[in-house]
Amino acid sequence: MKLGFLASHGGSNARAIIEAYKAGRLLAEPTVVISNNSNSPALAYAREEGLPHYHLSSVKYADPGDLDHAILGTLLKHGVNIVILAGYMKKIGPLMLGEYSNRILNIHPSLLPKHGGKNMFGKAVHASVLESGDTTTGVTIHLVNEEYDQGPILAQFPVPVHPSDDVDTLAARVLEQEHLSYAETINRIAQGELKLNLGNPGQS
Ligand code: GRF
Repeated sequence: MKLGFLASHGGSNARAIIEAYKAGRLLAEPTVVISNNSNSPALAYAREEGLPHYHLSSVKYADPGDLDHAILGTLLKHGVNIVILAGYMKKIGPLMLGEYSNRILNIHPSLLPKHGGKNMFGKAVHASVLESGDTTTGVTIHLVNEEYDQGPILAQFPVPVHPSDDVDTLAARVLEQEHLSYAETINRIAQGELKLNLGNPGQS
């Protein structure tokens, strides 16, 4: 099972998964890293690790259809079976959604459907949790469809909210759990415990 990563910023989730692979703890093979941000640490890390990496963005492809085509072509060229969104801040194009239907995973730092949706990213998610008074938050891994954060949920992992938390302490605790949860969910998929539509690339 070959993994392709799309990341925009920190890239710590992509890195945690690739590190799990290097440590022999991942039952899938990281194959390519793509970012819309040429300064993304995810790209720098891929470069260090000798993994194929690409900067594909609207700067290079002004037409969204061309960008969608370029990203899809890159994933197919590297034989990617499953796409891992790791802090990818751009909408996935229709070509890619069609070709990789049920094979694009995203991670969200709350227990969806709570604290999800279009403007729920980064610190806004954790601020919303604190405001709500919830005593438990967590991590959701879900399949990606046309709507933000609304694809079928594959796995959820709870994280406690402490009374003394602020947005930063809560975000850090959730991110730590994200780093464990993504690799674990990929392993469950690889073991057939979680079922997806796993065809060969180009044959979905
Ligand atoms: C994570 O909190 C993830 O849940 C959200 O964006 C953040 C990405 O962090 N989708 P990183 O880029 O993997 O460090």
